[in-house]
Amino acid sequence: MKKTNVLLIGSGGREHAIAWKLAQSPLLDQLFIAPGNAGTNSAGKNVPISGTDFEGIKQFVLENQVDLVIVGPEDPLVRGIHDFFLTDALLKNIPVIGPQKAGAELEGSKDFAKQFMIRHGIPTGAYKTFTNNTLAEGIEFLKTLNPPYVLKADGLAAGKGVLICKTLHEAEKELTDMLANQRFGKASEMVVIEEFLDGIELSAFAITNGREYLVLPEAKDYKRIGVGDSGPNTGGMGSISPVPFAGKEFMQKVEDRVIRPTVEGLQKDGIPYQGFLFFGLMNVKGYPFVIEYNVRLGDPETESLLPRIKNDLLEIFLATANGSLSEIKLETDDRTAACVMIVSGGYPGDYVKGKVITGLETVDKSLVFHAGTSSDNENIISSGGRVIAVTTLADDLTSAIALSLESASRIKFENSYFRNDIGKDLM
Ligand code: AMP
Ligand code: GLY
Repeated sequence: MKKTNVLLIGSGGREHAIAWKLAQSPLLDQLFIAPGNAGTNSAGKNVPISGTDFEGIKQFVLENQVDLVIVGPEDPLVRGIHDFFLTDALLKNIPVIGPQKAGAELEGSKDFAKQFMIRHGIPTGAYKTFTNNTLAEGIEFLKTLNPPYVLKADGLAAGKGVLICKTLHEAEKELTDMLANQRFGKASEMVVIEEFLDGIELSAFAITNGREYLVLPEAKDYKRIGVGDSGPNTGGMGSISPVPFAGKEFMQKVEDRVIRPTVEGLQKDGIPYQGFLFFGLMNVKGYPFVIEYNVRLGDPETESLLPRIKNDLLEIFLATANGSLSEIKLETDDRTAACVMIVSGGYPGDYVKGKVITGLETVDKSLVFHAGTSSDNENIISSGGRVIAVTTLADDLTSAIALSLESASRIKFENSYFRNDIGKDLM
């Protein structure tokens, strides 16, 4: 049987976890990661091409007989990498996992996502969208709501575009700042004002080709920098899978009320979609509400979700691309995965890169996924805010967390930091 050459795009912990999983597949020939990090290089071969350099990717794909492209982050998708492949005579038969531009709008525009949910009856908070021309109406609308107030920049704002304001005064000020002063640049030319949903958050995932879908394990992400979920938002400081409060009954509601209606809604709207769907959910008294869509896997959710999948990930990707996804039955590990993210001191504000990382080889009870690393001839060095993700699978949550914390404490670089309370709220 002909084996598959895969190009994976991205450079974070999510991509290291995907690369680690793909490398276990007997269906894999060569795995390339563009641009990758010091960890992905041990699962495949890094190639120094940015995910948004479409011409560079084209040349590489053709020269290296790549059979399948997996897109990790949202940016190349929102910029149309999949459309680029489909409209190129030489690339159009090479499958891409990751939606085309039209589908990527689910993440690229909050207003588009809200309209989509309302149109297809998918549970979400009530909302209205405003521009600088309708700023006065926006302020009047705020006055009709109860605090806290949720303001969302319409476009991609590197995870920083959502503001939760405690007082009306603060909300008015922030709305003005976003619309009149373009606080998030073009991303806040439109602002969604949304009903505040009071509940517990979790992330659900599926992979789809627009007709069939496969529900993947759910995870809980810890977004804030500080212990007790305090301080500014980050890309994610840790994750847990499975989520104890998301039992069978709740996850069935997620599939029936959110996942299936989303796939069917895309069909009804004539939007082709091949790739991951990531549902940012709020569990409000046992009922799921969507707070956001993403069109990729989450980071660091992937680092706890993929280790729980027993199936061959490449087989899942190939089945997605060739229309046989419904033949796949997901097999999951019943154990709990706990992921702890080690970050550079100062993150998510200013931080220093280039620190030598030691102790990686001393970790023997956990998986180590690189998030922001590079290597010189001798050392692994930090190259981002989020640096290393440590994941442990264990029979229960308490042991998984304890082991991940123990492993994280062995990995050292100057000014490193990790939260020691990941998952404690779930115990
Ligand atoms: P997002 O970028 O849409 O995930 O929003 C960032 C964070 O803001 C989420 O993880 C939630 O904690 C919070 N959030 C977003 N929308 C709402 C909402 N409607 N009600 C309560 N919290 C929200
Ligand atoms: N961990 C949240 C995200 O990937 O957007």
